[in-house]
Formats: sequence, C-alpha cells, structure tokens
Amino acid sequence: MSLYAHVTGWGIAVPDEILTNEKLAQIVETSDEWIVSRTGIRERRIARKDQSTATLAADAARKALERTEIDARDLDLIILATSSPEHIFPATACLVQDSIGAIKAGAFDLSAACTGFIFALNMAAQAIRSGSIENALVIGSETLSRLVNWDDRSTCILFGDGAGAFVLQASDEPGGILSAVMRSDGSGGNLLSVPAGGSKIPTSHEAIDKNQHLIQMNGREVFRFATRVMASATRDTAAHAGWDVEEIDYVIPHQANQRIIEAAARGLRLPIDRFIVNLEKYGNTSTASIPLAMVEALDNGQIKDGSNLVLVGFGAGLTWGALSMRWIEPKVKVTRLERRRRSLLTWLARMRSFLRRVQRRIEGLIWGTSSKGQE
Ligand code: UT7
Repeated sequence: MSLYAHVTGWGIAVPDEILTNEKLAQIVETSDEWIVSRTGIRERRIARKDQSTATLAADAARKALERTEIDARDLDLIILATSSPEHIFPATACLVQDSIGAIKAGAFDLSAACTGFIFALNMAAQAIRSGSIENALVIGSETLSRLVNWDDRSTCILFGDGAGAFVLQASDEPGGILSAVMRSDGSGGNLLSVPAGGSKIPTSHEAIDKNQHLIQMNGREVFRFATRVMASATRDTAAHAGWDVEEIDYVIPHQANQRIIEAAARGLRLPIDRFIVNLEKYGNTSTASIPLAMVEALDNGQIKDGSNLVLVGFGAGLTWGALSMRWIEPKVKVTRLERRRRSLLTWLARMRSFLRRVQRRIEGLIWGTSSKGQE
C-alpha cells in the first residue's frame, strides 16, 4: 500500500482585469499609500461577468491535471475549498466535477474560509495515506468581488478573485504531505462573516438594505488573532514532521497582509525571505491565496526538489491551520500527443454533460415531471 501523498500537478487561474489601488481610490476614500503601507497590496484581480468560482476552479484544475500522468477520469475525489461558492447548494465542487469530466470522483465543498485550502489538502492527503483513494484534486477558488461591499473602504481594498488547484497522488516515495494541524474557535465567528443568505438570516429586502449579504469584518480583531496563531501553527506542524523551525526552507502563508506575515516571521525568528509572498499582485484571495503563491514559486524555480515547506493560514470561523510538505519534483513529461488526447477528453466531458441535460429534459417530457429546477 502506498504510504505517501504527493502533489503531482498544480495550476492557477486568475481573471485578466486588474483593479489597482489608484483605481480603488476613485471608488472609495483611500489612497495607494494607505493600502500599501497597511497591507502590502498594490492590485487585485476582478472576475468578468461570465467568470465565477466554478469556472476559475475548473480552469485551474485543467492546468493542474495537464502536468500529471492522469486525467480527470482517474480522479477519486474533488474537494473545493471556497468562501464564495456558486450557491448554498449544489456544491461548487460538483459543477467542477461535471465541467472537467471527473466521472468517478466524489465531490464536495469545504467551508473553512481562508484556512480552507489547508484543511482540504490535509483531508485529501489523509484519504490517500489511508489507502482508500489514489488520486485527488484539491482546489481553492474565489470570486470575493461578488461579496465585497464596495462602499466599505476597510474591506473592499483587501480582497480579490482567483483560483489554484493541486492534484494529489498516492506514492511509495517518501515525502509529500507529512503532517498538519487544524484548529478552530467559533467564539470569534462574528469577527468576519457574510451574515445573510443562509438559514439564520434568509435573503430578504431588509437584509440587503443592511448589507448583510456582504462581507463584514472587524479588521483589528482579525489582525490580532492572525498574528497570534500563524507562528504557533507553523511551529506545531513542523514539530509533527520532525523538523526544527530552522529546517523549514519556505513558509507559504495565507496572503492577507504583509504586516501579519512579518509578525509571523518575527515570531518564528525566520528571515522574511523564507516567506513566499505575492499578495501585492492579487490581494487576499481567501482559499486561493496559498496555491496562488505556491504555484508561482514552483514555476519560477524558487521551490526546489527536497524543499521543506510549511503552508499556514487563518480565517473566518475562526479557523487556522498549517501543513508541512517535503517537495518532491514530479518526473512526468507530458507529450504533445497526450495534451491533444486530453483536450479531446475535455471536449467529450462537455458533450457528455450536455447530452445528460438533454436526456433529463426528454425524460421529464415523457414522464411529465415538472421543469422546475432545470435551469
Ligand atoms: O483572510 C482574513 C481576512 N482578514 C484580514 O486579514 C484582516 C486583518 N486586518 C487587517 O489587515 C487590518 O486590520 C486592516 C488592513 C483591515 C486595517 O488596518 P489597520 O491598521 O488595522 O487599520 P484600522 O482598522 O485600525 O484603521 C485605522 C484608520 C481608521 O481611521 P481612524 O478611525 O483612525 O480615523 C480607519 O477609518 O484607517 C482608516 N481606514 C482607512 N483609511 C484609508 C480604514 N480603511 C482605510 C482605507 N483607506 N482603505
């Protein structure tokens, strides 16, 4: 039985539209100087009307699969971490499953806000290491621009849209995901939330008038909490992996605020250049922020074969967690012919999905079932 869970594929998808601090200063009373000095963020991406959490996720997933020796039909499990799902239900993960043609994968969403990608990665790794599955897809995807209150300068400057995906595979080769810590404290649930649209405050005109369908945050409290937990979670997961903190080559933190990352570096007594940071380009993309940072560091060669990595995050819930990973470079080379075969499979997946919808329509007409809920 394979004992290890390795990341073998990785991909990201970000919208083309860039919203700079200067442009934001035309929407709310703020300035590039304030945003950069308090957060480190310079710009963020904003999804087009035809893009959504599911489409960004599916794009990132396809790119991640392209790097591997498997295709979507080999996936056993899809976990999609998100704070901005397409709907309350169905799960956004199921929409991605359909879009990429992962015909034998169970798919579900994981809601742990910005810590979600770490929790999802750990759950998928555990399933692989237990021997119950072989191949998993883990995605962090967001269109937070749809949940931001564009009149609230203390939150609208922070968030952005994007997605990142990892393929995880079982292997006998030592390394991969080694340990994780997952923590939560619901007593702080009110500090960062989208209060309405669920069962407690169903969508209503009144809720919308009060902006309860949009992100509300006590920034100072979240900041204090984050600076407390980032270093301790990193230390805990490193200890579980059998590493001293100095043995960590790179920490990939949730990209919320440069000052929070610097506080974590001070708390761990690690130089700031051991932290992978790209929040200046994308802002806080919640569940997508860690894969967006890690994929960039993989693609520019910063993360090398054998690197000891810690992924660490915090978010609404409150939740926080960290995960340690020894990076082993996958040795797969995908040929051009193979790429062609996969494009064909993607096309076939779309056709299959379309035909299933048509089949349901026809069956509905024959059996006289209502057309409700078919759109
Ligand atoms: O994924 C987790 C998501 N959440 C976070 O990571 C948030 C963590 N918190 C933070 O990053 C910081 O608390 C913020 C960046 C949100 C705010 O920075 P801060 O240094 O904590 O500022 P503050 O809330 O203490 O506000 C300081 C001042 C206030 O003015 P007064 O009351 O001192 O006159 C704010 O009204 O800055 C004002 N302010 C702004 N000024 C210009 C708040 N937002 C802005 C703005 N531009 N965008």
